[in-house]
Amino acid sequence: MMKIAVSGKGGVGKSTIAAGIALTIARRGGSVLAVDADPDANLADALGIPRAAQGSIVTIARHRELVEERTGAKAGEYGQIFKLNPTVSDIADDYAYAHRGVSLLVLGAVKGGGAGCACPESSLLRALVQDLVLRRDETLVMDMEAGIEHLGRATVRGVTALVVVVEPGMRSVETVKRIVAMAAEIGLARIAVVVNKVRSDDDERYLRESLPGLDIAASFPFSDRLLASDRDGVAVIDGMDDGMRARLEALVDFLEGKYS
Ligand SMILES: Nc1ncnc2c1ncn2[C@@H]1O[C@H](COP(=O)(O)OP(=O)(O)OP(=O)(O)O)[C@@H](O)[C@H]1O
Ligand SMILES: [Mg+2]
Repeated sequence: MMKIAVSGKGGVGKSTIAAGIALTIARRGGSVLAVDADPDANLADALGIPRAAQGSIVTIARHRELVEERTGAKAGEYGQIFKLNPTVSDIADDYAYAHRGVSLLVLGAVKGGGAGCACPESSLLRALVQDLVLRRDETLVMDMEAGIEHLGRATVRGVTALVVVVEPGMRSVETVKRIVAMAAEIGLARIAVVVNKVRSDDDERYLRESLPGLDIAASFPFSDRLLASDRDGVAVIDGMDDGMRARLEALVDFLEGKYS
């Protein structure tokens, strides 16, 4: 079963690619859980969930009663004793939002200390992500922020591939290199690069030459139509032309073939 985490510099297209992969798997009849693990969450938009409906999506870290019930500690307070192994196995079933065959789970930001802090919210999220990666038997697509250091070693062992999105530009290439180095430190070598927003052969060549030795899983052109789909609140796969959708299908085939 494929368990992927999608990372990359801000704005490169992580949510676009993550949503595209999840929607494609769902369209094929697969069971897929999309996890928004970016504190600045916007995977719901990329999936095309109308803003009016997004109000009913529960953000796990912000659900104080849940955090308190599971960890035995007050959310947002430090210096407490709380359960390090809270029960989490029912959370995805209870709180995921179903849309076009994709189940979306929004984790939310941990206030004050980042995802690595010793607070009840982050303890709950860590246990939850670990459970999703290691114990659930559906395809998992996680939309991450640029870093992956907060994943934890146990989780990383279960991630079948880290998908890193890059756009033509030195800054986004540098972020890829940082992510790859970070991944290596925690023992994750299964990395697939997705090249995005390519406007020319020069762009494509630049990226391939800048990232030697990395597995380039797919390349997507810059598309005005896809950009407009963000403005219009349309699901990413509905904002893709046939050529782009074919590339997305090929990417899913590639990932499932190599990183299941
Ligand atoms: N191939 C593409 N062509 C044109 N626009 C694109 C393409 N891919 C993504 N975009 C646009 O780029 C913007 C950023 O994309 P997206 O939100 O997926 O990136 P992100 O990496 O998740 O960003 P963030 O770091 O803010 O979470 C969006 O407006 C999206 O529509
Ligand atoms: Mg995003």
